[in-house]
Amino acid sequence: MSRCVCGAPYLWICLPVALLLVAAVLPASGGCPKPCACSGPAEVRCAFKHLTAVPEHLQAAVERMNLGYNSITVLRENDLSGLENLEQLMLHSNAIHSIEDRAFQDLKLLQVLKMSHNKVKEIRKETFKGLASLLRLHLDHNNIEFINPEAFYGLTNLQLVNLDGNHLQQLHPDTFITMRHSQVFKLSSIRNIHLSDNLLTTLPADMFSGCSQLENVFLHGNPWTCDCRMKWFPVWAQRNTGVLKCKQDRRYPRGQLCPVCQSPSHSHNQQIDLLPSDAFTCVKPWIEPHLKQKNISLDEGDFTPVSPKDFIAPLGSIELNLADQFHSDVSLSCTVQRPSAFENLTQTLEEEEGHNVTMLSTAITTYLVCNTDYEHIQQLWQILAAYSDSPMRLERGLMLARSPEMMYSYSQIKTKEGDEEIHTNIEAEVKATPAWLMQGEVSFQLDRTTTTYSTMHIKYQSVVNLRVEGTSPKRDRYSWTMISRDNQTKTEHTVLVGGVAQLNCHVQGEPKPLMEWILPDGSKVRAPFSSDDRRIIITAEGKLTLRGADASDTGLYRCIATNYLDADILVFRVTVLSLDVEEADVNGVQVSKLLGENLEFDCSSSGSPEASIHWILPDNSVLVESYAYRKLYKNGTLLIQGLTARDRGFYRCLAANHLGVDLLVSQVTLNEEKPNVMILDSEGSGMNMEDKVGRSLTERTVTLNEIPSSSPFDSKSQESKTVTSDRPYPRLRLQDRYRGGSRVRLGQRRIGTGNRRIWSSRVFDQASRKVDPHKFAELMKKAQGGSKINSGAEKERETYKTQMALSNSFLVMVKMVLVKTILLQSQGKNL
Ligand SMILES: *[C@@H]1O[C@H](CO)[C@@H](O)[C@H](O)[C@H]1NC(C)=O
Ligand SMILES: *[C@@H]1O[C@H](CO)[C@@H](O)[C@H](O)[C@H]1NC(C)=O
Ligand SMILES: *[C@@H]1O[C@H](CO)[C@@H](O)[C@H](O)[C@H]1NC(C)=O
Ligand SMILES: *[C@@H]1O[C@H](CO)[C@@H](O)[C@H](O)[C@H]1NC(C)=O
Ligand SMILES: *[C@@H]1O[C@H](CO)[C@@H](O)[C@H](O)[C@H]1NC(C)=O
Repeated sequence: MSRCVCGAPYLWICLPVALLLVAAVLPASGGCPKPCACSGPAEVRCAFKHLTAVPEHLQAAVERMNLGYNSITVLRENDLSGLENLEQLMLHSNAIHSIEDRAFQDLKLLQVLKMSHNKVKEIRKETFKGLASLLRLHLDHNNIEFINPEAFYGLTNLQLVNLDGNHLQQLHPDTFITMRHSQVFKLSSIRNIHLSDNLLTTLPADMFSGCSQLENVFLHGNPWTCDCRMKWFPVWAQRNTGVLKCKQDRRYPRGQLCPVCQSPSHSHNQQIDLLPSDAFTCVKPWIEPHLKQKNISLDEGDFTPVSPKDFIAPLGSIELNLADQFHSDVSLSCTVQRPSAFENLTQTLEEEEGHNVTMLSTAITTYLVCNTDYEHIQQLWQILAAYSDSPMRLERGLMLARSPEMMYSYSQIKTKEGDEEIHTNIEAEVKATPAWLMQGEVSFQLDRTTTTYSTMHIKYQSVVNLRVEGTSPKRDRYSWTMISRDNQTKTEHTVLVGGVAQLNCHVQGEPKPLMEWILPDGSKVRAPFSSDDRRIIITAEGKLTLRGADASDTGLYRCIATNYLDADILVFRVTVLSLDVEEADVNGVQVSKLLGENLEFDCSSSGSPEASIHWILPDNSVLVESYAYRKLYKNGTLLIQGLTARDRGFYRCLAANHLGVDLLVSQVTLNEEKPNVMILDSEGSGMNMEDKVGRSLTERTVTLNEIPSSSPFDSKSQESKTVTSDRPYPRLRLQDRYRGGSRVRLGQRRIGTGNRRIWSSRVFDQASRKVDPHKFAELMKKAQGGSKINSGAEKERETYKTQMALSNSFLVMVKMVLVKTILLQSQGKNL
């Protein structure tokens, strides 16, 4: 082979030679790029050469290239084009912050890509496109915040992904999926996943379910939140013993660094895989009882879980004709939810008559959502009632029909002697799409917790064996959506009556997802949206603005992103508090302080996820983070340095998470050091007077506490910064509601009532925002219809009492209407 190792300045000498020797084989640009060293055409070594870009004129013959320890900042689409023989590419320790799409497209034989210690921020869908042979991908110690869930899809040989030391806060469950079949079965070839030292708090339950070949997972150094969302994790870890790895290092206690929980506090620093499953709970927040004289109950709105699954188009349908030994036939028509998790998934390649066939085998669990017709509901219940604690296991028999659709007979599998299982000689005729749902053995089990009067939920389980034609699965249609969540995502909002709340729901996905919201009254709207009275406005980008809040706006606002095959939900809680506080509301302490003193209020709480703490101050601003002389610590403690006249009044601490809220109300009275110093006086002097007093007191405060005089009283900027609302609140309004006692105690003059007018104009027409009364009546009728059936049924059916209290059933019905709508839409699509 030609060994023309010459630098660019001499290229003019070399070139003719090179041309002579290899003109027919290689492009004219042969040679070792300056200032690199090459040992033969297969190896280019350019480490430590101060390169600012990938060298030009690389030979197609190169198999290994080291560009490590340079100053490359960008990888352009054509930088690596034509390097079809490259097997190993080292780009570590550069300053690469962006990789253009398809930059690696030609590297069909690349097996190792090392990009550690760069500044990459984002992995896009086409970043690694074309790397069909890639085995090892090192992306550790970059600034990666986002990985497109399709980024590794199609890299069907990928075995190792190292993402240690990045800024990841959220991952889509399909991130590590490298192939899929029939739009349902997701698989991953990945064996080693490194996610240490990121900012992950939680992982979706299906994160590793397609990764049947997983050998090592590293998760330490993340601030894990061990609440109900991670309940799946210890179960997974136990089932996949030895896969979760700790970092071995003598510097750490017990010689290793393992993933531990950061919160909730009772699990702090506990090793996540060793925590018992029941430690992973979600509970509403409680402010420490020792801080409270009594409990205040607040309207929180109902919490009925809504699952993203309800917004995903079903997989198919099943029709069942059932009979047992006592009863005549009944039929059930069900849609089949899309299964998201698979167990024991294996893929094998079998050669059959000269072509390769992929065989998939996996255990699937999914749910059937079945409409019940009222006439036969009693019979249906009689047949199915027995199968809610243990499943009905059926075995396939004869094919009853081949076309237009296949139909099989099934019969119940005989129980063995001494077996606990119930046996009622079930015979069934089953028709299903997709046909692979009709496996040799299937089981059905009634899910009592979600079954309602009008809809039965039946768990379907089977081990599915499936033939997938062709050697390489074609790129399946792909669909993903995800609502961004990071450490800036604010899901708990507190707003005072008349104020403004702004909820931000940032949706990503492909194809572009629809955005819908379920409002506290149960109504569902599609973005963009504006309520009739224009108090609630939702932009297409996902910003919901609530203006002129009133108590009925309290509750959950769910943002839903769906593109039919994938869906995500983010739940916001808005708590609207009244402007008025009275002494009777105080359930915390009543303290008397001197002007200029510091004030510290504890508001420790427990809750999972950990509660957000908001303080509503006497001037009716909502403090969510420290501002000026008011410090809000992580533990909920409020510290006011240098009390001024404005700081007297009621302090409300609201602890909130998605499950509920708790409230602590305290009162501060202020005394002069020397009584009568304050010029108190003239009735009705109003806000101006207050300002004057405030300012004179500031000066005093400064001398007492050495606070820079510029800090405290810019109330406008303070409010715009700390308040969930962007409107200024009338300060000290509550005084005009004071009953004699407290006014005397505060030694205060009366404040003008002028502000009241501002608020009276904010009373909105309630009726206009209620659920459509027509719709509501319809839903109520349905609910009542259901309850009649219940009361008519026999006593034994009492066990069947749906778990849903009637009060809850409203949202459930909304859910169902939704599911049906989606169903109809998707059926429409398929036609
Ligand atoms: C408040 O409610 C909690 C939970 O129900 C209870 O444990 C606590 O004793 C109550 N506190 C007071 C002061 O009533
Ligand atoms: C998966 O395989 C294991 C081991 O073979 C078995 O114990 C388990 O029951 C299987 N799971 C399912 C859902 O079939
Ligand atoms: C089937 O796959 C094997 C292994 O990957 C391969 O060697 C063989 O050539 C394939 N056969 C056909 C017909 O594609
Ligand atoms: C939030 O995350 C960013 C990285 O994405 C980080 O720089 C920042 O410090 C984090 N903020 C907090 C409060 O943790
Ligand atoms: C909360 O944190 C602050 C600052 O770290 C500390 O001064 C205060 O004592 C803490 N309060 C409680 C109740 O732990």
